[in-house]
Amino acid sequence: MVKKIIIVANWKCNPTTFEEAKRLFDVTRSEIKKTENIEIVICPPFIFLPIAKSYEFSAKFGAQDVFWENRGAYTGEISPAMLKDLGCEYVIIGHSERRNNLGETNQMVNKKLKAALKNHLKPILCVGENQDERTKGEAEKVIKEQLETALFSIKASLLEISNFSIAYEPVWAIGSDATPSFDETMTMQIFIRQVMRKLFSKEARVSNGVNILYGGSVNSKNCADFIFETGMQGLLIGGASLNLSEFGRIVKRIKELTDY
Ligand code: PGA
Repeated sequence: MVKKIIIVANWKCNPTTFEEAKRLFDVTRSEIKKTENIEIVICPPFIFLPIAKSYEFSAKFGAQDVFWENRGAYTGEISPAMLKDLGCEYVIIGHSERRNNLGETNQMVNKKLKAALKNHLKPILCVGENQDERTKGEAEKVIKEQLETALFSIKASLLEISNFSIAYEPVWAIGSDATPSFDETMTMQIFIRQVMRKLFSKEARVSNGVNILYGGSVNSKNCADFIFETGMQGLLIGGASLNLSEFGRIVKRIKELTDY
């Protein structure tokens, strides 16, 4: 079976009103129509997920974060069970903006990942080095540590059935218009798969099956190359997913290249 290309729209903390969110869903729906070989995953802020549930849509929905317990005295948190109840299929975990702005650690990411998997959500685990780590030549070391800690004591069988994705998002490339070269991106794609192979040496299907996505300043001009020149299986898109004609162009471009 040919795997679908995964395109994730991360709306981040946008838009600010229910009305705008509805409009955004409406236009996104008309832009993406039916896409056979592409899995489109829209990740709006939590409070707009109920709108998504009421929509006839060819896209899937995801959350931008999740807590590690299903219920209890955890002020402000949203649990995996709540997301499932809203019809959410995917969840982004460990985005660098959460790591940097809210102090989310690799250990917290590990707990979130375990909870998401246990509750049958499809995790999109974000990893990536910052500018300083890149300049010091430490990108691979950082990513290895992020993966090892995030995946610590996670059962291969759970990953295998979860359509698990890892998004390589160099922090310096997010919202910056600067991107790694396609060669650098391919090298990182191979490196991530090697780390997965070591972590799950007895379960080759896990490392072979994981979807590796690229994220960071993706637009309609570079989107096709970030997939077809790098061996990546998809894209995590921030800014361009809010610019609907641009998002439509990205989907159209990938669609043209995957319609066979
Ligand atoms: P960007 O964001 O596409 O605006 O660079 C990507 C992300 O943070 O997921």
